[in-house]
Amino acid sequence: MLAAGVILSGVNHGMDPEAGPYRDQPAQALPVDIGCNVWIGMNSTVMPGVSIGDNSVIGAGSVVTRPIPSGVIAYGNPCRVVRAVGERRSAQPNSALES
Ligand SMILES: CC(C)(COP(=O)(O)OP(=O)(O)OC[C@H]1O[C@@H](n2cnc3c(N)ncnc32)[C@H](O)[C@@H]1OP(=O)(O)O)[C@@H](O)C(=O)NCCC(=O)NCCS
Repeated sequence: MLAAGVILSGVNHGMDPEAGPYRDQPAQALPVDIGCNVWIGMNSTVMPGVSIGDNSVIGAGSVVTRPIPSGVIAYGNPCRVVRAVGERRSAQPNSALES
């Protein structure tokens, strides 16, 4: 499931400053591999060559730069694994509310 604004990017351009405009430099295609039953939150970008494993959830606004394993919740820029899907969020006291 791809939410609104998701970008799956499969190409990087050459970045040699001595080789002319970047737009004219050879592009390298790298596949983006999305598993089964993956939910990618809105406005996320998945970079070239990245894979996301089955049943994982990518939080809104993420930039996925590294492979994400199966069955995890991950988010952020760069996107990091937070916990397993189905695992409860650990209770963390909010010190600002306790004082
Ligand atoms: C990632 C997601 C699935 C739930 O993650 P979660 O860990 O259960 O989220 P929680 O609501 O418990 O929040 C946990 C913490 O992570 C933060 N967080 C949650 N989602 C985040 C995200 N996408 N990016 C950065 N931080 C996020 C929360 O602010 C919270 O921070 P805190 O610990 O400082 O309070 C959800 O937040 C999300 O991004 N859903 C996508 C929504 C979407 O795209 N909908 C479109 C319809 S298809």
